[in-house]
Amino acid sequence: MVNGATQTSADPILSARGISKQFAGIEVLSDVDLDLLPGEIHALIGENGAGKSTFAKIVSGVHRPTRGTLRLSGETVEVPNPHAAQDLGITLIHQEPISFPDLSVAENLVMGRSGGGWFSRVPWAEITRDARKYMDLLGVQIDVTRPMRGLSIADQQMVEFARALASDSRLIFMDEPTAPLTPREVETLFAIARRLRDEGRTIVFVSHRLEEVRALCDRVTVFRDGIKITTEEVSDLSDDDIIQAMIGRPFQQYVHKVNAEITDIALEAKGLTEPGLFEDISFTVRKGEIVGLAGLVGAGRTDVARAIFGVAPASSGTVEVNGKEVAIHSPNDAIDLGLAFVPEDRAVAGLFDTLPVEHNITAAVPRQYAPNGFILPAREKELAEKSVEDLSIRLASLRQPIIELSGGNQQKAILSRWLLTDPQVLILDEPTRGIDIGVKAEFYNMIGAMAREGRAILLISSELPELLTLCDRILVMSEGELRADIPRSEATPEGVMQAAVPRSGHAA
Ligand SMILES: Nc1ncnc2c1ncn2[C@@H]1O[C@H](COP(=O)(O)OP(=O)(O)OP(=O)(O)O)[C@@H](O)[C@H]1O
Ligand SMILES: [Mg+2]
Repeated sequence: MVNGATQTSADPILSARGISKQFAGIEVLSDVDLDLLPGEIHALIGENGAGKSTFAKIVSGVHRPTRGTLRLSGETVEVPNPHAAQDLGITLIHQEPISFPDLSVAENLVMGRSGGGWFSRVPWAEITRDARKYMDLLGVQIDVTRPMRGLSIADQQMVEFARALASDSRLIFMDEPTAPLTPREVETLFAIARRLRDEGRTIVFVSHRLEEVRALCDRVTVFRDGIKITTEEVSDLSDDDIIQAMIGRPFQQYVHKVNAEITDIALEAKGLTEPGLFEDISFTVRKGEIVGLAGLVGAGRTDVARAIFGVAPASSGTVEVNGKEVAIHSPNDAIDLGLAFVPEDRAVAGLFDTLPVEHNITAAVPRQYAPNGFILPAREKELAEKSVEDLSIRLASLRQPIIELSGGNQQKAILSRWLLTDPQVLILDEPTRGIDIGVKAEFYNMIGAMAREGRAILLISSELPELLTLCDRILVMSEGELRADIPRSEATPEGVMQAAVPRSGHAA
């Protein structure tokens, strides 16, 4: 919305008053008042664990508030479950959309729609026709008769949008939707969000990326420690204002690259090939060196990392560790050789959802707390406590199931698991995805310190500033091939992007 005057005069679509939420007696949201206006894109930002997802879940019926009221277009409403939310025109689009993989796209679109008759007399022709109509409205080409399984995350999100349209949602929450998307997919998502806004709908956009908030959003609300700090027009705030509101202190923005002594080759890939995924990948990472691996989503970076770590070994080519050719058939082989791999996808990363945070952190180092096969609980607790402190992981208790942590804090817990293995070669795949700006700086310093200890680091990242700040060298992959190897002194955003863009015009 451009005109501030129209905005203040519009009646809110949603008024939240005094919304509080406690989990097991711990208050994670306190007295939040927030008005959302029709026809605005409203950013919701804050550090990991600030309460953003919890607020979105309360409004969309996933959680009940402990106190407080919600008014929708002036009327007090109860939102006891997601079904009720949908009937009220409220949709939450999760980062990893929840769907029924074996059902078709069209079936998924109407799933969860209330009003009986689902199992009897399903008007298939109508459903399929409607589904096509919504895809057309969104301007996306997805065959609505195909199963959900196998759709890219971007396309799954489009289906979620279509679902919001199908239920005529007036209020759509998007919780960190852009993290797994390519720049082009982000543009598509933004274009759709803007169109929905221009139709008078309200979009709430949760993101850790300030540049996205600037590009897309009209107003921004900042949460800190469960409290709403401010709501303002985005254009009235500088980045520094926003960050200060988020972290409650001025932010020391610049991470200085501290040069480590770069010595012998720790990891070398020679001609790694897996037909259809990547071809003839050769590179080295030396002790003390931080090597970036840039590229667009789908370029094959994760596949290469998984091959090296033995998750899915390559069909040809070799890997050398400390100058010796090694056979890595499984992650255990890799761990024994001093390798560690922090994967991008938390679900794949071996998050043990229902186990306490403590066990999730210590899972990879049983030898450190059960030296003779018997667990020493005090030792395990001490290891976990230190990790929680080092990475400022926010939690109520080490005994809490990890699934109860906020998204970013789950990510930190997984990271700390691998740091505990004291790796000689550390492969990180999008390690700061979902991690807030305050912790990012701490994390960068930590990577720098690890390099100074003589560890070799391979950093896969889609964030160019991150690569340009931290890396001694940047490798660029595109379409399964290594297209560039750029030393720090010559690395520019343009140079990296140029090498990253597919030559054939479509992703590998
Ligand atoms: N089901 C739950 N049980 C217990 N505590 C929870 C539960 N869900 C969330 N919390 C806690 O509530 C707090 C707020 O979490 P929330 O997920 O809302 O944060 P967030 O702002 O979305 O953070 P992030 O940026 O990391 O996603 C966190 O401390 C989290 O551990
Ligand atoms: Mg969250």
